[in-house]
Amino acid sequence: MCGIVGFTGRRQAAPVLLSGLKRLEYRGYDSAGMAVRNGDAPAEVVKSTGKLIKLEEKTDHGQTLAGSCGIGHTRWATHGEPTVVNAHPHVSGNCQGSGSGPVESDVVGVHNGIIENYVELKEKLLRHGYEFYSSTDTEVVIKLIDYYYKKYKIGPVDALTRTMVRVRGSYALEVMFKDYPQEIYVARKDSPMIIGISEGESYIASDVPALLNYCRSVYYIDNLELARVLPGEVHFFDLNGDEIPKEPTEITFSVEAAEKGGYEHFMMKEIHEQPRVIADTLHSAVQDGRIDLGISEETLKNISQIYIVACGSAYHVGVISQYVLEELTNLPVRTELASEFRYRKMNLDPDALVVVISQSGETADSLAALRQAKTKGLKTLAIVNVVGSSIAREADYVFYTKAGPEIAVATTKAYSAQLVAMYLFALKIGEVRETIEDIAKYLQELESLPGKVERLLDDKERLQWFASKLSNTNSIFYIGRGLDYAICLEGSLKLKEISYIHSEAYAAGELKHGTISLVEKGTMVISSLTQPDLYEKTVSNMVEVKSRGAALVAIASYGYYSIEDCADFVVYIPKTLPVFAASLAVIPMQLLAYYAAVARGEDVDKPRNLAKSVTVE
Ligand code: F6R
Repeated sequence: MCGIVGFTGRRQAAPVLLSGLKRLEYRGYDSAGMAVRNGDAPAEVVKSTGKLIKLEEKTDHGQTLAGSCGIGHTRWATHGEPTVVNAHPHVSGNCQGSGSGPVESDVVGVHNGIIENYVELKEKLLRHGYEFYSSTDTEVVIKLIDYYYKKYKIGPVDALTRTMVRVRGSYALEVMFKDYPQEIYVARKDSPMIIGISEGESYIASDVPALLNYCRSVYYIDNLELARVLPGEVHFFDLNGDEIPKEPTEITFSVEAAEKGGYEHFMMKEIHEQPRVIADTLHSAVQDGRIDLGISEETLKNISQIYIVACGSAYHVGVISQYVLEELTNLPVRTELASEFRYRKMNLDPDALVVVISQSGETADSLAALRQAKTKGLKTLAIVNVVGSSIAREADYVFYTKAGPEIAVATTKAYSAQLVAMYLFALKIGEVRETIEDIAKYLQELESLPGKVERLLDDKERLQWFASKLSNTNSIFYIGRGLDYAICLEGSLKLKEISYIHSEAYAAGELKHGTISLVEKGTMVISSLTQPDLYEKTVSNMVEVKSRGAALVAIASYGYYSIEDCADFVVYIPKTLPVFAASLAVIPMQLLAYYAAVARGEDVDKPRNLAKSVTVE
C-alpha cells in the first residue's frame, strides 16, 4: 500500500524523506513524490513514476530541494494509472503541480486510503471553480481542505475537521498550508499514521520502519484524530478541534519485524489484512446501494454467455464464481484455465463476455487468453489488482480489486478481493437481468463479511495446534460438493504450494470413481460443508472414507453440529448466505496451510520454484 513520510526540523528535509520512503519500499509502489518548503517560500513539488531511484536522480539525492519541512509519498495506484500527474503530492491550486519547481498553492498534501464519496465531492468542487488534473481521489480531498480553509477562514485544524466529517472512506492525510511554514498537519481514519520526536525535530510516517533510523519513541494517532506537527513538538486534536493529551510509545522491535507489521511472515500479515481488503473492494464499487463495476448495464443486459478465464488461485475464484453466477443469474457460465483456453478450438458465442481475473495483471497465459478473446471480437472485462498492468490496459472494461500490494507468493488477500469483485459482478447481472429480487439483502450480507472474517482470525490458535499434527502427514484430500468443491481447490493449492505436503481437491461424489483406493488408515481428509442442500450428501462421502480409516476434518457452517458425530476435528464458520461462504471457509484453510508450512520449517513467503507473477508461458 502507499507510504507516507514527513519531516520538520533543522536539517534539510528531502534526504530524510527519501531515506524514510526507502524504508517503505517493501510495501510496493509504482510512483513517488515529495513537496519541500524552504521558509516562507511556496512548496517545491517533485514526482516521478517507477522506482525511488528516479526521484533521487531528479533531486540529486534530495540535495537540490532546499528547506527543512517536507512531505513524501510512495503511491500504489488505486484511482487512476501510475503516472506523474496521478503521483502525490497533490496541490489545491488550479495547476498540475506535477513537474519540478515551486507551486503557488495554499494546500499541498499526500494521502493513503480510499475516499469513497470522491465523485460527489469532486462535482461540488467543480461547481466552486476548482479544476482537476489527476484521476485520483487524493486531489479531491486536498481541494476540499482548501475549500473549507478559505470558506470559513478558520485555520488548518478546523479545515481538516470539516473535511474529515465530509469524506467517507479511509485516510491518512498529511498536508502543508502555505500560511503556516515549518508546520505539517496530519489526520487519520482506518489508515495508520505515527509521529516521532527526537532532538528538536519531528518525523511522520505511515509505518514504523520509516522512523526507526531516527527515533524509537512515537505517538500513534487514533482514528478520527488529527495533529499539528512543528519541529520537535506535536499537538493532537479530536474531531471537535479540542486539544487532547497523548503519551508516546517506545518501539522495541527490529526493522524487519516492523516491515511485517509485527507478524513473522508477509503471508500472515496479508491474511490479517483480508477484512479491510474485502471492505475496501466492496466500498469502491457500491455507492448508496448501487453497484458500479465500470461496465454498462446495457452491455450486461445483452450478453448471452460468460467465459471466466484465469490461472491458479484466480482460476479457483472463477470456479466459485461459476456457481455463484448460476445461482444468481440466468446466464450460462464456463470457467476455463487460461493456459487451456488460449489453445482450445472452442466455438465461442459471439455475444459472450470474457472475464479475466488476475492479481498481477501480467500473467502470460491470462494475457494471451484475453488477446485471443479480443481477436475473436468478444467483449472483455478484467478483474485486476495492479492498476495499469497489461491485462487492465488491454481489456475493454476493468474493475480494480483493492487488495493493495501482495508480497507473499501464495495469494490470500488478493483472492479474497477477487471473490468480492465477482460476487458484485453476479449481483449486478442479477439486478439488470431481473433475476434477483432483493439485492439489498445480499449487499447487507457482504457488509458483514469483514467482521465474520475477523472472528475466524481471532480463533487461529486452535488451527495452529491442529496444523502441528497435520504437518507430519504425507498426503491430504480436500472434498466438497458444488461451491464447497471450488473452495477445496483453493484450500488444497494453498497447502501444497507452501508446505509441500501432497494434496488433492476432489468433488466429494467423485472419490469413489477411483481415488478412494488411496484412502487407508490415517489418511487425512478435509471436508468443506457450507451448502445446506449438499450437506447430507457430503456427510455420506465422509462416512465412506471414515470406514476406510480416514482421519476427518470438517470446515462447516455454524449449526451443522451433527458433524461432530463423524469428524475428528471441526472448524465452524459464521453463518452467511451460501453463495458467499467461500470468503469464510477459505480463512481456516489458509491458516492451516500457513501453520503447517511454518511447523515444517518452510520458507512460507517464498516457496521453492514459484514466482509471484508468472510472465512466461
Ligand atoms: C497461488 C497463486 C497463483 C496465482 C496465479 C495467477 O497462491 O498465487 O496460483 O493465483 O499465478 O496469478 P495472477 O492472479 O497474478 O494472474
